[in-house]
Amino acid sequence: MERTFIMVKPDGVQRGLIGEIVSRFEKKGLKLVGAKLMNVSRELAEAHYAEHKEKPFFGELVDFITSGPVFAMVWEGNQAIAISRSMMGKTNPLDAAPGTIRGDYALSVGMNIIHGSDSPESAQREIGLWFGEDAIISYEKTVSAWI
Ligand code: TYD
Ligand code: MG
Repeated sequence: MERTFIMVKPDGVQRGLIGEIVSRFEKKGLKLVGAKLMNVSRELAEAHYAEHKEKPFFGELVDFITSGPVFAMVWEGNQAIAISRSMMGKTNPLDAAPGTIRGDYALSVGMNIIHGSDSPESAQREIGLWFGEDAIISYEKTVSAWI
């Protein structure tokens, strides 16, 4: 069983896509174990995207993520990390297949609606950064036996 950190970025919140995105993850069969609507400090945004610190788009990326509320979530399930990445689609919406979240809703790489952890290591790091173990809920979903 894996956990992954998923975030609806400020463009997704502004465009009213929280419900659509949550719905897709629920219908897929993943289990929501943490969620919060929040403003992001520069410090948190910079820590979250630390791997991109030297990239030319880093400043704009941090400006964007701190520009309005985000909806941060933790989803749990079998292969949750890779499944979520495939549901999101490629980073550049031009390459993201129709049917994926970015493929269906985004036009530009700068505003691509959603973030998802890309490996078990980044999932663990990001869940710790945004939530901490205390904020994650443990519960049984009886429907899990069917998925
Ligand atoms: P990255 O981790 O490569 O993509 P992903 O979100 O799919 O894991 O990049 C992080 C974010 O940085 C990406 O979602 C959008 C932004 N970004 C740009 O603005 N320009 C770029 O050229 C790239 C590669 C990313
Ligand atoms: Mg990434």
